Amino acid sequence: MTTDPLNASRPTLEEITALAKRRGFMFQSSEIYGGIGGFFDYGPLGAVLKRNVKEAWWREMVTKRDDVVAFDASIVMHPQVWKASGHLDVFHDRMVDCRQCKHRFRVDHLPSREKCPDCGTTGSLTEPRNFNLMLKTNIGPMEDSASVAYLRPETAQGIFVNFKNIYQTARKRPPFGIAQMGKSFRNEITPGNFTFRMREFEQAELEYFVPHDGKDMERFHEWVALRKKWYSDYGIQADRLRFYELPADERPHYAVACTDVEYCFPWGWGELESIAHRGTYDLDAHMKLSGKDLTYFDEAAKEKYTPILIESSSGLDRTTLVMLVDAYAKERVLGTDGKESERVVLRFHPRIAPVSVAVFSLARNKPELVERARSIERGLRETFRTQYDEGNIGQLYRRQDEIGTPFCVTVDFDSLDDQCVTVRERDSMRQERINASQLERYLAERQGSIC
Ligand code: GAP
Repeated sequence: MTTDPLNASRPTLEEITALAKRRGFMFQSSEIYGGIGGFFDYGPLGAVLKRNVKEAWWREMVTKRDDVVAFDASIVMHPQVWKASGHLDVFHDRMVDCRQCKHRFRVDHLPSREKCPDCGTTGSLTEPRNFNLMLKTNIGPMEDSASVAYLRPETAQGIFVNFKNIYQTARKRPPFGIAQMGKSFRNEITPGNFTFRMREFEQAELEYFVPHDGKDMERFHEWVALRKKWYSDYGIQADRLRFYELPADERPHYAVACTDVEYCFPWGWGELESIAHRGTYDLDAHMKLSGKDLTYFDEAAKEKYTPILIESSSGLDRTTLVMLVDAYAKERVLGTDGKESERVVLRFHPRIAPVSVAVFSLARNKPELVERARSIERGLRETFRTQYDEGNIGQLYRRQDEIGTPFCVTVDFDSLDDQCVTVRERDSMRQERINASQLERYLAERQGSIC
């Protein structure tokens, strides 16, 4: 068989959502009750895909560094946190309602203010008003204003308010970072584009605290370069990514400098991550409102100061969606019989692929064959994410291509005599016959140890 890689086409959003549903990557939340806007569930493959994305982030940002420590804050925090951070006062979108169809829109998402984009009625839109994006809840048995609390709209504030606890217990001095992953919630007016804009999502944030040594801008640019390398190392195509340096009038109120990482999604460019130089804004704000000292005391210099903050804030659901979109290819394949067919293949990086090796028995009803294949699959589990399957080889390859499995191993009747198996590589579709005892080394050489 040969492939025509130049024919690999960009997917539409419909193709991605259909594949995600068909193969069990993502489902609409509460689907049997008609769904709930802005919430999604990850199916068996999607849950592993997202976990692999998280592990790839954590490995590079925390495990492989000696200047970053881990943290895990609670989702609900004291409401004063959101007062100090500015979320209670300025974390809102401008919105309008349609008086006719009662639908609600973000002003900056409207093609025109004349006419409702849903029902088409002219002059039906209300004047814009502010809509706070934080999700409210009540703590304790009383539902009154004293019991109001919020589900965090970002994980970062948990780090800021714990800055002193963390640097003292971890015995760190700036420059050093604190990393955290976790759920965040925003009551988006118009959730959409599949898992791009959700009301419940997960963030991975690194807050890097630096001294006032004149190198803060340099360090900001170093972080931009490191994040660029991360996307490239995990196989994201460079021409579909851009790093947009925000001019002063587009930056968030707290940022001295800001670079957005954007990906070219099927509907256009969209933000994946925001890298910001936040000055001393956050620690200052919490010190002011709480009256507590969050400065760093430098023992050597015998002076205290408020460190400058550089932040890398990624959306894990958006990164997972990018992995899916970027990996997707549709190709024309020429069979050995000379007939052309089409295959959909996800070209995941081996560390990102939910399944790294699939092992097949060529026949279902031959116990010896099934047992041999199952035992090979069990043997590989320590090192790789494996899956066992059996049946028609064409269908098995097709399914594994569609879920992006880098290698398939087939046990056939000859395997029982010669102890060899057929290994087929996903992208080239090249097949090699190798001795089963060499299999683990063969796979590790080609994709590294996965687990
Ligand atoms: N602490 C800074 C902060 O939260 P942000 O630009 O508001 O910055 C960071 O959010 C990242 O979180 C975004 O780049 C995006 O990947 C993700 N994100 C934000 N809102 C989201 C939503 N409604 N759905 C999915 N991901 C979202």
